[in-house]
Amino acid sequence: MKKVKKDNNAFWKMRSEHYNELQWAKNNKYLYEFIKAGRFNKKDIVLDVGTGTGIIAHSVAPLVNEVIGMDISQDMLEHSNWKGNLYFIRRDILESTFADGIFDKITCRLVFHHIMRNRQKAMDNCYRGLKKGGMMVLSEGVPPSKRVRKQYVDIFKLKENRVTFYEEDLVGLMKDSGFKNIKVNTVLLKKMSVKNWLTKSGISKVNQEKIYMLHKNATDYFKEDYEMVETENDCLINMKMLILTGKK
Ligand SMILES: C[S@@+](CC[C@H](N)C(=O)[O-])C[C@H]1O[C@@H](n2cnc3c(N)ncnc32)[C@H](O)[C@@H]1O
Repeated sequence: MKKVKKDNNAFWKMRSEHYNELQWAKNNKYLYEFIKAGRFNKKDIVLDVGTGTGIIAHSVAPLVNEVIGMDISQDMLEHSNWKGNLYFIRRDILESTFADGIFDKITCRLVFHHIMRNRQKAMDNCYRGLKKGGMMVLSEGVPPSKRVRKQYVDIFKLKENRVTFYEEDLVGLMKDSGFKNIKVNTVLLKKMSVKNWLTKSGISKVNQEKIYMLHKNATDYFKEDYEMVETENDCLINMKMLILTGKK
């Protein structure tokens, strides 16, 4: 277990340096749809789980009373800025020690695919932390279709340890923790650069090249489902993001 934590620290240290330069991370359309889903108001006390460098926390802060961004990685947090009604703390959602029922909203973007064990417990902790009537806004990236699953898994294996979700897995995860009125919105981030994603993700040069070639040499249906465009030095793909909301 200690080794897992140590490996995790090293992984996020490596990723933290260029995280804010990832094209998808600050994509306006993605942020707009995420914020819209949260229906935030000036009274809201918000917890941003797995806040990373605080991109979601910073976008939400002007719309609400207070935001707490929490993350397991000190290195990611060091790239966030404390400001006004926005606070950051180092905490693991699996060991959450927040009191029950204190948040109006909980946001969580692209975190659950990194939780390899006890995911349901992490979701239960989110549910517990919300006030009755509170809302969770969850977002994850998913493969564009069922038929590319194997290629998707092979590509991501070269990048990180992760869980591959489809919509039904995420809905199930929320439902099993007690969330009601679950709604799903699909956001397509169009023509995203594979090269940007690779060079800003802290992946070794060797694996960057392998992943790039897996795109270049992919099957026709992979290219079709990603609506992949090949340029001289890059591959542009559509990234499929799901934004789910659920009520306590
Ligand atoms: C891909 S980043 C997403 C950051 C941010 N939510 C965003 O959308 O830009 C995933 C973040 O989840 C954090 N994380 C992973 N497991 C966690 C856990 N068990 N508890 C808290 N944070 C966690 C990582 O340290 C990392 O900063």
